[in-house]
Amino acid sequence: MKIIEGEDGMTERRPDNMERITTPALAQAYIEEQVKELRAQIGDNKVLLALSGGVDSSVVAALLIKAVGKQLICVHVNHGLLRKGEPEQVIKVFRDEMDANLIYVDAVDRFLDKLAGVSDPEQKRHIIGEEFIDVFAEEARKLDGVKFLAQGTIWPDILESEAGVKAHHNAGGLPADIAERFELVEPVKILFKDEVRMVGKELGLPDNMVFRQPFPGPGLGVRCPGAITRDRLEAVRETDAILREEFAKNGLEGKVWQYFTVVPDFKSTGVKDGKRTFDWPCIIRAINTTDVMEVTVEHLPDELMDHLVKRMIEEVPGINRVLYDFTPKPPATVEYE
Ligand code: XMP
Repeated sequence: MKIIEGEDGMTERRPDNMERITTPALAQAYIEEQVKELRAQIGDNKVLLALSGGVDSSVVAALLIKAVGKQLICVHVNHGLLRKGEPEQVIKVFRDEMDANLIYVDAVDRFLDKLAGVSDPEQKRHIIGEEFIDVFAEEARKLDGVKFLAQGTIWPDILESEAGVKAHHNAGGLPADIAERFELVEPVKILFKDEVRMVGKELGLPDNMVFRQPFPGPGLGVRCPGAITRDRLEAVRETDAILREEFAKNGLEGKVWQYFTVVPDFKSTGVKDGKRTFDWPCIIRAINTTDVMEVTVEHLPDELMDHLVKRMIEEVPGINRVLYDFTPKPPATVEYE
């Protein structure tokens, strides 16, 4: 399964005759072939990987652990905008169960301090992106003798960058002094997302990692509209955890394409235990789509809605109202920022 050099100057091609990976056996064959190729490419050198815990970087990590074991150095940056339990799961799966070389960077204060008081959505995204690169570059500079940088580039990323939709950064936007030090390793770059998932499953990654719903790079930051505060961010994280738990219990996990909560930056009056409250609302969003350009809203059963309202108000400090967003895309986008 070689990548063919294009005559039009584009070096990346999914071979026309490449069979779509649709069965565990085909996924196993891909894994075996990649492991051989990775060993040949990497030799006894070291490889660095930014491991977010998302599907693509997790599958790349698992492939590299199988191929070169401790020669892989994973860096997991906790920017404070991850979902509840995510950093813990990355540590458990990769360090404890797969015995990977994993550097965990607690950058929560650093990100939240930089974001304090920033309400413009684009500026927030920019700060999160830049800070991530800075933290990762700092870790990379500390390491000696690493020759390769692994990335979870997948085939749609390449198609999008060729079509001019999205820039596909060759070294993840890293500063030149870092980027120039590395050769890239991209072992899933000719795969579509469903194929990456299938390979991940065969590599033994847990289902909730392999089949998880899309999650934006700026994480919960875009679900805490306006200037992020730690208390409101916690309310987003806790309500999101309740929503995910209830969707799993009610068999909706694999059925609904994406679901999450948003806690907007305004308060309203309520009453609890005979006392006045003045707290935030939590907005629930649950949507279905095939192409993300057009999105329909999932209608939840009444009993589930009632249960979610009860749990969120009882369990999450700062929430006194629960709202449901019935707006399709267009006119609304999926995320609030
Ligand atoms: P919108 O809000 O544009 O979202 O309708 C469409 C899909 O893209 C996801 N999304 C992002 N994913 N980085 C990402 O990796 C981002 O900055 C980002 N913004 C939105 C969103 O969750 C939805 O699935």
